[in-house]
Amino acid sequence: MKDDEKGQAKGAETVLIPATRKDLGACVDILMDSILGEEYFTREIAEPILAEGIGKKEVVVAKAPSGEVLGFYRLAPDGVFLVFAYLHLLAVKTGHRGSGIGSRLLRDAERRILEMPEYPELKKSFLLVGKTNRRAKRFYEREGYTKVSTLDNLFSEGDTEYLMAKELGKNRAPRKRASGRSDSA
Ligand SMILES: CC(C)(COP(=O)(O)OP(=O)(O)OC[C@H]1O[C@@H](n2cnc3c(N)ncnc32)[C@H](O)[C@@H]1OP(=O)(O)O)[C@@H](O)C(=O)NCCC(=O)NCCS
Repeated sequence: MKDDEKGQAKGAETVLIPATRKDLGACVDILMDSILGEEYFTREIAEPILAEGIGKKEVVVAKAPSGEVLGFYRLAPDGVFLVFAYLHLLAVKTGHRGSGIGSRLLRDAERRILEMPEYPELKKSFLLVGKTNRRAKRFYEREGYTKVSTLDNLFSEGDTEYLMAKELGKNRAPRKRASGRSDSA
């Protein structure tokens, strides 16, 4: 079996499911053992943020058959302009990166966005990536994201973040018909 096939097989056994309180510690560990932990978070800051996300059902984990958490994302459904979804966090466990888990998590988040019935009908996904996080930026570009803005000194003096976005299309949930109006009008 070629290396890339092994990677895909590894990813295929992994299931994506909403995180529970029991997954909190593993998510914090993954986050802290990444560039996000190095540059933006302390454990004390990360823990309540992730606990809140889990409570709101905004966190999805990638779980191996053994139950090991291999990665996660947090998606805030109205995190941008109170209407567009914001992918707040995405991280894959060290040693499991580069085998497709990140792509699966990202595509799962996009599927969820497309299924959100709320306004607006045209769905977009937004995220921030640090200027120095070149591999992650390349990863998002390959997944169809483009840089829409540069934000200087965002989280700290000297920090530069790129706001990236992807147009996902029209929502896939059935539209509610406004009362008294006809679709054929
Ligand atoms: C970015 C990240 C979520 C991608 O998940 P993944 O499972 O490694 O991604 P996939 O296997 O689906 O795709 C591999 C691609 O991810 C990107 N990538 C970014 N950091 C990587 C890393 N440390 N190791 C491997 N791939 C990485 C690369 O573009 C890689 O493609 P390449 O091999 O052509 O360079 C993951 O690498 C990660 O957790 N990085 C640290 C946290 C982070 O930067 N999160 C994004 C913050 S905005």
